[in-house]
Amino acid sequence: MTKVAIVTGAASGIGRATALKLASQGLKVVVVDYNEKDGQETLDLVTAQGGEGIFVKADVSLSEDVQNYVNQAKETYGRIDVFVNNAGILPNFTLLSEYEDSMFDRVIAVNLRGAFLGMKYVLKVMMEQKSGSIINTSSAAGIHSQPYLSIYAASKHGLVGLTKTAAVEYGPMGIRINAICPGGVKTGMTADLGEATSPSLGPSGRMAMPEEMAEVIAFLASDAASYVNGAIMPVDGGMTV
Ligand code: NAI
Repeated sequence: MTKVAIVTGAASGIGRATALKLASQGLKVVVVDYNEKDGQETLDLVTAQGGEGIFVKADVSLSEDVQNYVNQAKETYGRIDVFVNNAGILPNFTLLSEYEDSMFDRVIAVNLRGAFLGMKYVLKVMMEQKSGSIINTSSAAGIHSQPYLSIYAASKHGLVGLTKTAAVEYGPMGIRINAICPGGVKTGMTADLGEATSPSLGPSGRMAMPEEMAEVIAFLASDAASYVNGAIMPVDGGMTV
């Protein structure tokens, strides 16, 4: 049986690297993003390396868009084995008291509500199958403080709470739910950060490549991680130790 994976935020960065990695392992990949052009390009890269998939345009903060990508995956491939809940945005860096109210609402809507909605609708399918693996992309900001990124830290700490609780609720149904907490990764999200706002790199002394996240996500997605559930896994070169 060929496994089926949904990857959100797969138009670039960690999501694209993950879609390519899972496709290289033979999974069918549902590429989800609100960036149609780059999402389609990810799908082209998947097929160019001999993989199979579809692209579904979605804003993950909208319930109807989430239900649509879950339905498209189910209708096209009949099942969902792996769900990589990865779409996210980074707000501007500033003190908590300086943030616009609307920025709080948007970051929570994408990073937390989007992840909640994805889990909600994917879990309904995985419950029927009595199997599945969900990987949520949290952040080092989900496990320690992140000065000048309070809203982002709140969204990523929230995702850790969703992950742990859902792992306990759905573990007995054969579904594993884990989170990775990347440190600094070279993607579009971090491309414009100046020295003053660069996260402290920790003992690795460097940022990661997106492929280094994809490796860990692919492990958690696989049966090799069959006894890993509810793990909040730093993938940060030791930044948060
Ligand atoms: P990225 O900016 O390259 O990729 C994020 C993707 O999410 C983009 O393709 C974007 O179009 C998509 N996206 C954003 N909002 C969306 C929405 N509402 N609906 C659908 N798609 C949406 O950034 P990167 O670094 O690959 O980020 C992936 C995840 O990793 C994010 O959740 C981010 O918070 C997390 N992360 C990234 C770190 C880094 O240093 N790059 C560190 C820790 C966590």
